[in-house]
Amino acid sequence: MIVTTVTVRVPAKVNLQLSVGPVRDDGYHDLVNVFHAVSLFDEVAAAPADALSVTVEGPAGVPTGPDNLAARAAALLAEHVGRRPDVALHIRKDIPVAGGMAGGSADAAAALLACDVLWEARLGRETLLELAARLGSDVPFALLGGTAVGLGRGERLTPVEVTGEFHWVFGYADGGLSTPAVYAECDRLRAAGEQDSVWPQVSDDLMAALKTGDAEALGRALHNDLQPAALSLRPSLRDALAVGRAAGALGSLVSGSGPTCAFLAASLDHAAELAAALNDSGRFAAVRPVSGPVPGVTLV
Ligand code: C5P
Repeated sequence: MIVTTVTVRVPAKVNLQLSVGPVRDDGYHDLVNVFHAVSLFDEVAAAPADALSVTVEGPAGVPTGPDNLAARAAALLAEHVGRRPDVALHIRKDIPVAGGMAGGSADAAAALLACDVLWEARLGRETLLELAARLGSDVPFALLGGTAVGLGRGERLTPVEVTGEFHWVFGYADGGLSTPAVYAECDRLRAAGEQDSVWPQVSDDLMAALKTGDAEALGRALHNDLQPAALSLRPSLRDALAVGRAAGALGSLVSGSGPTCAFLAASLDHAAELAAALNDSGRFAAVRPVSGPVPGVTLV
């Protein structure tokens, strides 16, 4: 059978714990990064073509040239297997752009799997994870999905045991935040003595909450060291987070480098109520109830 198009679905992530260590010599920060994949998906379709191209369906602001991370993923995989990257990638975006939910990384992970299947490369999970880490710190997790602790830059992953399902509401902001700018602001706040710097450790309270499926304990254990930096660059996020807390969220935090805000609900019904309250507040460009954990990249 000749395969003509391969379509892959890939989830967004939220960081349940993002603890940031000092800057390393390579400019990255050592992290304890607890990733959690949620039910908000991009789709990437890969079809044979004369040359590498990317088209995007959805929000504006996604580059379609060689800088697109999915295009770089296809080029890297082609180089690895010694062929031309003659593929047309079509991305259907639902994950917000520059929102702190690893949408670009998700598309790169999806492109890796889609091209692996289209080109019948059959590289296997370990090799795909290795190529993913070369594309970006969050790309390996998008392949894996579920819930996982990421050490190093975030690319050294260990799956975490989770009982049941958690219900979330995400509040999108107008416009994105640049990840390098948010890390730089975190460094600046620390150098100015406005934020503590401690060596990152996996939170025992967080691991226990995930293992027992205790949403209230999870709400208390959520932590993001990049949040003060995101709030410093986007002060309006402070009020946005407060709206969720006032509406009864079990926990609230900025997702990754932001500006998307994540609110934890007690149940599916509570998530619907919380979503309605967040919508009514007028503080968000859009509001989305989702659940997690969900699997990583999957063939459609
Ligand atoms: O790995 P990735 O290209 O996704 O990282 C984007 C940017 O985020 C880096 O250029 C760096 O500024 C910052 N970063 C960091 N430490 C990490 C991960 C990312 O400083 N562990």
